Amino acid sequence: MDGKRKPLISANWKMNHNHFEAIQAVQKLSYLLSAADHEAVDVSVHPPFTDLRSVQTVLQSDEIPVLLGAQDCHWEASGAFTGEVSPAMLAKLDVSHVIVGHSERRQLFGEVDQVVNVKVKAVIAEGMTPIMCCGESLEEREAGTTDSRVASQVRAGLAGLTPEQISSMVIAYEPIWAIGTGKVATPEDAQSVCATIRRVVREDSGTAAADAVRIQYGGSVKPVSAPDLMRQPDIDGALVGGASLDPEEFARIIAYRLVG
Ligand code: PGA
Repeated sequence: MDGKRKPLISANWKMNHNHFEAIQAVQKLSYLLSAADHEAVDVSVHPPFTDLRSVQTVLQSDEIPVLLGAQDCHWEASGAFTGEVSPAMLAKLDVSHVIVGHSERRQLFGEVDQVVNVKVKAVIAEGMTPIMCCGESLEEREAGTTDSRVASQVRAGLAGLTPEQISSMVIAYEPIWAIGTGKVATPEDAQSVCATIRRVVREDSGTAAADAVRIQYGGSVKPVSAPDLMRQPDIDGALVGGASLDPEEFARIIAYRLVG
């Protein structure tokens, strides 16, 4: 290893794959991944809630070294919150990573920074790892406010956390204009914002937390774009939507290091 953090490449399936399809996808993925892949990269899959129990069972019974993730959660452990799923329920299913504050949650479901912050804390309190998302809109990029927007999302999302808690977290930089559009950020632009995120963590929480926190890039990551993105010093993984639905395409992203 070159001293860089071990990459985490995550499949965000969004509202796709019923539980039968999810089982097939995970089994197919497991055949495509080698021991060397698992050695080099941590892999997580984030199916819809209704698939979690089925995927957990397959991962356990087939001893597949893929981490189980969720796409969201509520912040309370239980209570009168119709339609919600608690972090405690996810932890009971061996979920290890929970995406928090995805831009679709922010834009379509009104999730604000303060909600993201309480969810991050609730996920950590249950012993799981948050993948906290941030990213600018096209208007913000064109107005030149990308760095300040992302810095403020990161500061608000991490408020009140200890450096130790931040060290074991994952932050996903996902420019909104790149999500699901086929427009991937250039490796240089993605690196620049990920470096800003790490600088913000260093300023607020110290060097140890900044050196340890893993920062993913997300937004139209494909097998062709993954190698150059993953080569950037401050990019420690990828959060993959569309391309993660096809196990072959996702496995090729995970094998990015074998290209070039
Ligand atoms: P995409 O989605 O890869 O389809 O752009 C990424 C994400 O929203 O996490």
